[in-house]
Amino acid sequence: MFQPNLFKDKNIFITGGGSGIGYVMAKQFLDLGANVAIASRKQDRIDKASAELRAFGNCYGTTLDIREEDESARVADEIKKEFGSLDILINNAGGQFPSAAKDITPNGWRAVINNNLNGTFLVTQTMANQFFIPQKSGNIINIIAEIYRGFPGMAHTGAARAGVDNLTKTLSIEWITYGIRVNAIAPGIIKSSGLEQYPEQFLKSIYDRIPMKRLGTMEEVGWLAVFLASPMASFITGETVYVDGGQRLWGDAWEIK
Ligand SMILES: NC(=O)c1ccc[n+]([C@@H]2O[C@H](COP(=O)([O-])OP(=O)(O)OC[C@H]3O[C@@H](n4cnc5c(N)ncnc54)[C@H](OP(=O)(O)O)[C@@H]3O)[C@@H](O)[C@H]2O)c1
Repeated sequence: MFQPNLFKDKNIFITGGGSGIGYVMAKQFLDLGANVAIASRKQDRIDKASAELRAFGNCYGTTLDIREEDESARVADEIKKEFGSLDILINNAGGQFPSAAKDITPNGWRAVINNNLNGTFLVTQTMANQFFIPQKSGNIINIIAEIYRGFPGMAHTGAARAGVDNLTKTLSIEWITYGIRVNAIAPGIIKSSGLEQYPEQFLKSIYDRIPMKRLGTMEEVGWLAVFLASPMASFITGETVYVDGGQRLWGDAWEIK
């Protein structure tokens, strides 16, 4: 579908690239000739993933907690040493847990906001200041979630992702003079390792609530990232694209009791 060397000599950093959607994206970009760095908190996960991904191209793996500013700065230095520069940042790391809003503890609320909103901003600001702004070029893709009509059942992540959705628009304009494009991808329910923590009852009930009557695949999210990162999307910025089988327009993933 895409030219084999579409991303030749391009350096890409994918947070949370050691599993699920981030891992599949890393493989897709490697297959298209990119150098890919991946990072997340668990050293064993990153070591295993980067070793596997090296079968497909030049992959560098390192640890990172996106919530820690100093760690982002350290990873930027490592990327500089490994690749020399950075062209594309994909903010994919994140996580949440299902809970009715009335039951979310203050700590649970803070944890999800800190990870998905604050962590995404810290990595983005660091990579922009270290690479994109000085070099006057860059491409940022934020993976958020299907938040079109709020996020009943996960208010904390809905609020955090709405923050990143808005940040996407703001940064796309603030940084347009630096030649940086900023877009977001809002996945619906995607068959990935991230779904393993959800109750079986929920997983059984969701098919009927997705107009396409199936889950999305990790590849379907990844191909959109490939498109948005490519010159084919060179006039697209500040946009959030939904990959959700029509779910945002019809039905709710969470049953209202
Ligand atoms: N699957 C879906 O249906 C779906 C739908 C909408 C949105 N999403 C979002 O898409 C992204 C990828 O999800 P996935 O389904 O592929 O799930 P996943 O396998 O759980 O991926 C999440 C990744 O983020 C990393 N991570 C989490 N917190 C981090 C932190 N503080 N610092 C660095 N890395 C961190 C995790 O690695 P470590 O544990 O090693 O840190 C993991 O590799 C997530 O943001 C998820 O919320 C998924």
